[in-house]
Amino acid sequence: MPTKKPYRIGIIGAGAITQALHFPGYKQDRRAKLVAFADPSTDRHAEIITKFGKLAAYTDYRDMLANESIDVVSVATPNVFHAKQAIAALNAGCHVLCEKPIAATLREADQMLAAAKRARKKLMIGFSHRMFSGPQKCKELLSKKTIGTPFMIRVRFAHGGPYPGWAKNSWFYKKSLSKGGAMLDMGIHAIDLCHWMLGPIKSVSGRAVTLIKPIEVDDNALLQLEFAQGALGYIEVGWTSPPGFSGFEIYGTKGSIICDYAKGLSLCTGKSSAGRDSTMQWKLIDPKPTRGGWDIEIKHWLDVIEGKVPHTLTGQAGRDALEVALAAYKSSDTGRRISIPK
Ligand SMILES: NC(=O)c1ccc[n+]([C@@H]2O[C@H](COP(=O)([O-])OP(=O)(O)OC[C@H]3O[C@@H](n4cnc5c(N)ncnc54)[C@H](O)[C@@H]3O)[C@@H](O)[C@H]2O)c1
Repeated sequence: MPTKKPYRIGIIGAGAITQALHFPGYKQDRRAKLVAFADPSTDRHAEIITKFGKLAAYTDYRDMLANESIDVVSVATPNVFHAKQAIAALNAGCHVLCEKPIAATLREADQMLAAAKRARKKLMIGFSHRMFSGPQKCKELLSKKTIGTPFMIRVRFAHGGPYPGWAKNSWFYKKSLSKGGAMLDMGIHAIDLCHWMLGPIKSVSGRAVTLIKPIEVDDNALLQLEFAQGALGYIEVGWTSPPGFSGFEIYGTKGSIICDYAKGLSLCTGKSSAGRDSTMQWKLIDPKPTRGGWDIEIKHWLDVIEGKVPHTLTGQAGRDALEVALAAYKSSDTGRRISIPK
């Protein structure tokens, strides 16, 4: 753990998520001092300096790690680069916040976990949905057994796609850089939430297809999960979605939790029946369940580094989610259900 504050921050990849989350988050926390960033796109250099002030700008992250004295690194680059950049930063003695998915393969993820252990540094994965007030409240309700035993979860995360409109270029749609489409990009958040709330996941079947966009990777996917505790779950993700439901629902023996990201988190109790004797009662618990998220992630990360809060968005959590996503692709390719090793 670095002893001197403010922590000196270096960022690898200065695109959309860095500009929305990492730069603003570090900039507003007095424990952090933004020092440098690395991005091969020199267009990005001018953009960053205009928006966030004069920082040392590098085109190669290895030069940044060699030349600058840095305590904490964020990795926010196309997925295929996460592992080697995170490992280089850990080997340079930095704590690392790495964007999701942790890596492209389980072997790379294992190497990241080993590097963090060897360096005795923290490795956190950017599972931002866990930072939202809705999922946090839901986790609390589940731990209090408010809905009894949960037996079914449904997650739907879908929007119109990362490009154009969000990402700085179309790398998300190129298999060599992304390693997967909507199932890896959005599915990994959904899998992590399922794992966190009802996990562990015992087996998965999936279907990832390119339905609408002329791209190399899947733009829509369905996953069906089976949990070790017996529950079932299903996830729908997509990059071609019209406006509609985004969020998740959990059904238990004594009630259900509906977390509609647009409309609020509600608890539903009473009796649901096929006849006219339904007695369902709805209680709105959180009208804006997407409070928090990116706005609090860097504060949480610095708290993790300082040991002030439990470290839950671990490299292992990143590896667990990746394992299920990769198994779902295997299922999609083979038509078989895939077991997840214990
Ligand atoms: N947690 C979340 O909610 C969330 C949201 C969006 C994106 N992400 C993740 O963040 C990562 C980046 O996505 P984005 O939306 O910012 O994409 P983006 O295209 O907007 O930005 C990527 C940046 O990385 C730079 N880059 C490319 N190769 C590089 C290299 N070798 N070294 C350094 N920089 C390099 C590009 O020039 C670009 O500026 C992805 O892994 C994505 O899955 C997470």
